[in-house]
Amino acid sequence: MEPLLDRLNRPLQTLRISITDRCNFRCVYCMPKEVFGRDYAFLERTALLSFEEIVRITRVFAGLGVRRVRITGGEPLVRRNVEQLIEQLHEIPDLELALTTNGALLAQKAQALAAAGLDRVTVSLDSVDDAMFRALNDVDFPVQKVLDGIDAAAAAGLPVKVNAVVKRGVNDEGIVALAERFRGTGHTLRFIEYMDVGHSNGWRLDDVVPADEIVARIAAHRPLEPVDASRPDETARRYRYIDGGGEIGVIASVTQPFCGGCSRARLSAEGKLYTCLFGVKGHDLRGPLRLGASDDELRELLQGVWGRRTDRYSELRTSQTASLPKVEMSYIGG
Ligand code: GTP
Ligand code: 5AD
Ligand code: SF4
Ligand code: SF4
Repeated sequence: MEPLLDRLNRPLQTLRISITDRCNFRCVYCMPKEVFGRDYAFLERTALLSFEEIVRITRVFAGLGVRRVRITGGEPLVRRNVEQLIEQLHEIPDLELALTTNGALLAQKAQALAAAGLDRVTVSLDSVDDAMFRALNDVDFPVQKVLDGIDAAAAAGLPVKVNAVVKRGVNDEGIVALAERFRGTGHTLRFIEYMDVGHSNGWRLDDVVPADEIVARIAAHRPLEPVDASRPDETARRYRYIDGGGEIGVIASVTQPFCGGCSRARLSAEGKLYTCLFGVKGHDLRGPLRLGASDDELRELLQGVWGRRTDRYSELRTSQTASLPKVEMSYIGG
């Protein structure tokens, strides 16, 4: 099959599917309580794509060359029976299935997710210091429960990655402790530069700890060497401990953008397709799905949207673009 290319010759390969815009955390850099408090207008249940609708559209994407699907949120594990969705997606041939979670419900769900056919899991964990972690998630959630979730995932046979967003003055003092905690565990820890997604987190460039600084801080403690990317569309730059303690990565969307290889499409929980994390406008797929569009019609729609794609927000980012209206991270799923 010929790959489906966008205007910048980038193939469509990964589909990130948000299955809910809700979350049981209120991370200060993502869903600050002042904005996502009690009165926030989350999507209504009927607005959400059903599992059947998600599976149908994913099959069409797979027919266009998508080989990796990542389930995101909000927090995907708060959507009921998520393992049933995994089971249904698992029936589509040759798809790698991953899921990004905050880990709060992972200890109780890991076994069922693995049994349903999930291939791997990525757990967001920004600090191993309990007080720092509780302040970051802002719902007083204890770090030990997330660590238990990671252990449960590993015990269920799921390869685990850990993602840590770094915000200066908030958790950057915990970078080395995080690295030490996951050294030698076989879980790849990746540090993420704090990004200007959405508009509710009050992002400022000064809050960003550049990836080079993160790497330097760890390397000062434990020597590191770079590792080649495993795929052209990898988000992370990889490093390994020279003494064999495993790998870390940095996702430097602000200081070293990686739009050049970006093969990711994003589907919101209500069925809008975005061709960039920083998209302003999505393309409605729910309407056509519910109005009875055929697979061929859906395929043509997707071909048209991807074929016209020119997004490379992170490469164009300036102090002005940070204030543009953009969708929230909890809506689009990272
Ligand atoms: P792997 O397949 O395991 O490498 O996952 P991933 O890095 O593609 O996805 P993950 O959900 O682990 O995302 C890690 C961080 O990278 C999150 O903060 C995402 O928001 C961010 N990220 C993922 N894809 C993109 C992207 O296309 N552009 C930008 N700017 N950031 C992204
Ligand atoms: N900048 C960078 N990463 C973020 N995430 C959420 N908000 C931001 C932000 N502003 C991360 C989550 C999760 C992933 C999907 O996105 O912590 O690891
Ligand atoms: Fe929830 Fe993840 Fe956003 Fe934190 S970063 S509030 S866990 S969606
Ligand atoms: Fe892809 Fe947009 Fe991220 Fe660039 S900013 S890597 S185009 S999602």
